[in-house]
Order: sequence, then C-alpha cells, then structure tokens
Amino acid sequence: MIPKLTPITSPWMEHLINEKLKLHQAVSEFGSPVNIINFEEFFNNVSLFKEIFKSFDISGEVYFARKANKAKGLVIAARDGNFGVDTASGNELKDCIESGLGSEKIICTAAVKNEELFSLAATNNVCVIIDNLDEMHLAQKIANEKQVILPIGIRISGFKSNSEILYSRFGFPCKEVATLIKDIPQNFPNLVFKGLHFHLNGYSISERGDALQQSIALASQLQEMNINVEFIDIGGGFLMNYLQSKNEWFDFFNILKESILDNNKDEITFRKDSLGMVAHQGKLIGEPKVYPYYNELPAHEILRQLLNMHDNYNNLRNLNIQLRLEPGRSLLAQSGITVAKVAFRKYDMEGRLLIGLEMNRTQMKSSSEDFLLDPFHISQNNKVESEENLEAYLVGAYCLEQELILKRKIPLRSMPEIGDLFVFVNTAGYMMHFYESQAHCFDLAQNVILQNQGFILDSVYFEMNKPKVC
Ligand SMILES: Cc1ncc(COP(=O)(O)O)c(C=O)c1O
Repeated sequence: MIPKLTPITSPWMEHLINEKLKLHQAVSEFGSPVNIINFEEFFNNVSLFKEIFKSFDISGEVYFARKANKAKGLVIAARDGNFGVDTASGNELKDCIESGLGSEKIICTAAVKNEELFSLAATNNVCVIIDNLDEMHLAQKIANEKQVILPIGIRISGFKSNSEILYSRFGFPCKEVATLIKDIPQNFPNLVFKGLHFHLNGYSISERGDALQQSIALASQLQEMNINVEFIDIGGGFLMNYLQSKNEWFDFFNILKESILDNNKDEITFRKDSLGMVAHQGKLIGEPKVYPYYNELPAHEILRQLLNMHDNYNNLRNLNIQLRLEPGRSLLAQSGITVAKVAFRKYDMEGRLLIGLEMNRTQMKSSSEDFLLDPFHISQNNKVESEENLEAYLVGAYCLEQELILKRKIPLRSMPEIGDLFVFVNTAGYMMHFYESQAHCFDLAQNVILQNQGFILDSVYFEMNKPKVC
C-alpha cells in the first residue's frame, strides 16, 4: 500500500470536484491544464493577518507578494479588498498601476531594477525597496530627471540569530546602514527614506523574531537621529498547511526511507527517488528537499508569535512604526486548483502504470522536490471503483525521462480513461506559475477566475475590472 497524503480542501474545491461536468467544461473551453483561482480564501487569509494587527493595537499593512501567482485578477482583488501588492518586476508594477491600486498600496521589491522600473515608480509615487548603492544612484538619477521625490525603503540583512549572522545576498548590513540613511538628504536629494525592509530565506520563526527586534533597534537609533521611520517591512515566508494528517506526513517519510534502503520493499517514488536525501553506506543522509507541507501553526499565529517575541509589538507601537508584511504563498492558501486531462495510459518496461497528462511538469512546480498532496481523479463516467489497488505515476509532455508531474506513486480507485481529469488542489501559491515554461512551443496554461459559479479568463476579468480611461 502506498501512503496517503490527504490534502486540506475548502468547500469551493469540493463543490467543483463533485460537480465534475463543470470541470470537464472548463478544460474543453480553456485547454489542459487550466488553473482555477478563487478569491474567497485569499480575502480570508488577509483578514486573519489584519486581525492580529488589531489585537496588538499596532498599525499594519499586508502586501500580497504577487510573485507567488501571476494572475492579474489577484491585483484587482487586492484593490477591492483594500490591501497592498508587493511587486517584483516592471510588469507586475504596471498591472498594479493599471488596476487603480493606490500608490500607498504598492511596493516594489524587485531583485533587479532597471531605468524603466524606476521611471514607472517615480511617475506613480511608488515606494521602492533599495538593495544596493548602484540602485540608489539609479533611483536618484531617474527621480531627478523626472523632478520628483521618490519614496524608498532600505533592505537590510546580516541579522544575528542563535549566535550566528544570517547570510543573505540581499540588502545592506544592518550594523552599518545608519550613516547611509542619515546622509540620504545630502547625497540623494530626490529620494526620501520611508522605512526598513527585510525578507529572510527559509521559514524560521525565531530568526524572523530576532530580525524584527534588530530592525526595531535600528529604527529606534534612526529616530534618535531625527530620521522618521514610517514602516518596518518583514517580507513573507509564513508557512502554510496543505495536509490533513500529521500521521500521514510522518508515515510517508518513514515508508519512503524504508523503501529506498530495503531492496525488498516496493518503491513509493519513481525508481526510488529519494526526494533530495543521499543514500550512503546503507543510510540516508540529509533531509528530503521538500516544502514542509504539514504545519500545525497557521500563518497568522506565526505573526502573533513574532510580535510577542522580544516585546516586538510594544516597541513598534511605542515608536509609532507601521508593520508591513509581504506574504505570497500563505495568502494563497486554498485559493487555486490545477486541472489536467488524461491523454494516455501505458505500462513502462518495468511494469509501472504511467498516466500521461496534457500538461508538463513546469505547470505545477516549485523549488520543492515534489508536491506532496494526493491529486483527485475525476472520471467522465460514473465508473464503478475497482477492488484492486491501482497505483500509477503521472507523467507529462516534455521529452525527458524524468518528466513526472509527481515523483510520488499515487493510489487510484479505478483505471483512468482518456479524457478523465486529474485535479491538483492548493496550487495557487507558486505551483502554477513560478517555473512554467514553453518548451516544445506548448501554450502556457490559461488562468481563470471562479466568479458566481462560472469561469472568466483572468485577462478578461482584469480588463473588465480595471478603471476605464476616458
Ligand atoms: C522580498 C520578498 N517578499 C516576499 C516574498 C514572499 O514569500 P512567501 O511567498 O514565502 O510568503 C518573497 C519570496 O521570495 C520575497 O523575496
């Protein structure tokens, strides 16, 4: 038996999965795979963070990290839901401006910023987070040419946590940045400093709490130098939970390890893929390189912990500093599904059942070695479930031996037929778009918004809802 990994699903997903005709219609209208996005939980997730701000009586703002999903409809949702968007490119910024989102609701944290991006930000009074001195000079040049004052935040790094300095290639060292900020009015007269920003790699709560404490200490030092610090932006990285059962999660790894180390055990991943662990002298070294799909602490509770650590909330309140967040993945919890059509069934030369989907693996891929959630098989006919335990691998359209949609073998209750569907739930955060490519000249998947029980193409939804220019 292969271990199950039962995903958490919300009512809108269950409704669609049960009403399979609608999903078949969506695939025949928009092609396979199709990404379906629903705003309901997106709004709820933002509200949960905002309630934490309220409960601590601190000023706070949520900026959705748009890099987690490129659907433009999410920008309209942010505008209508009165929260912000964090942009990582000129095009993301352009969408926000076109959507009518107010400038105070947009920030730009792009890792590489060119003249066009600074021009757009300067023309529209959008706060840009500066990472290095070259950017600072370019920002000054563009703002000067446009004869405007450009609001900026300064990205900082080099925080101490657990007696170590946390490495980051981003930002200015927090220990040395005060002088740079103090001298902005003389050296960069077209820039105005607004606040501090960091985003940490990984998901450690204690590292984030320490970084927030040290950012507040820096802000306090700046305020003593008569420099106003309006905000501290702590980036994203709030964990989300995808799975229903802790036991299933731990069982999965125990069975995976046994299957790899014991030649007599059946594989549960394609050709005993170790998901990033290394087999050495009868042992498995290292941890699986997968996202921690099972988590007990909800994202907003993580925020509560960060604020409680080191008295951070009190210090923010006393210094009158707004706390900003840029969650991507956790805001999209329960907000999207990806649906793909079965193209073929075959057995490989070693007897594995392979189900070919009209989709490629970049259409549901993150940096995690595998997406560890059971998919749903939607048959076209009301087929009787077979008694036998069927197990299969889902393979995709790229011409690579390793082109697996999931590396994990999945349990099936009946043999899929051509034209059946597979539904992957909770794919809105990074899975849909982050690595999607158009190799072999395949079209990109269409993104549709679920509205009033119907589907609207994301691009159409955006055009319909952006302000009309007379
Ligand atoms: C600057 C910045 N902000 C926010 C995020 C969003 O992080 P997450 O989706 O983990 O919340 C990222 C992700 O890389 C980032 O680089």
